[in-house]
Amino acid sequence: MTATGKPGHDCPRCPRLVAFRRHWREREPGWFNAPVPSFGPLDARVLIVGLAPGLQGANRTGRPFTGDYAGDLLYGTLLDFKFAKGHYEARPDDGLELVDCRITNAVRCVPPENRPSAAEIKTCREFLPPTFSEMPKLKALVALGRIAHDSIVAALDGKRSAIPFKHGGAHTIGAYRLFSSYHCSRYNTNTGVLTPEMFRQVFRSVQDFLAAA
Ligand code: URA
Repeated sequence: MTATGKPGHDCPRCPRLVAFRRHWREREPGWFNAPVPSFGPLDARVLIVGLAPGLQGANRTGRPFTGDYAGDLLYGTLLDFKFAKGHYEARPDDGLELVDCRITNAVRCVPPENRPSAAEIKTCREFLPPTFSEMPKLKALVALGRIAHDSIVAALDGKRSAIPFKHGGAHTIGAYRLFSSYHCSRYNTNTGVLTPEMFRQVFRSVQDFLAAA
């Protein structure tokens, strides 16, 4: 199967995720319950890569991070840095628009317990290179968490040992600059692993990079 940047609504690639999806389609037929598409303009210079949709967030609403706890910090920060305009109201019809920025996930389907397996991460990685190449002006990738970071590095044929994950780290990989952050998950923010200011600093670096590019 050749991948485009967008898995089909009934993507069959990961049996465990297909079974989970089927279960939730039966239980909550009004939810999105499908691979969550990337959000934002194709001509953006920045692509943010999260981990995977949350069950009652992006999997329910159909827009990355929307309705997920992590979305509050992410969209709030994007609004502050003018990478978004409008209001974030945790609904896909809140009118929020991304500006020069797009959001996708390393794994497009919701995984049980928020934990994709290594095989699922690898399988879904197929969608990353076409997601990059359908963005003609793409310059900066922002990895939210180690899994997204490692998946981006592998998708671009980089070596994990040469490009290790570090919060606040930045590396050039192929045609892109990769900025990495701890994931803005509830766990990381509640435990103080990631503070709002640490997260803001990542987007400040992205903004400085774009201004100089
Ligand atoms: N919601 C998403 O869409 N992605 C994440 O990584 C977390 C929550």
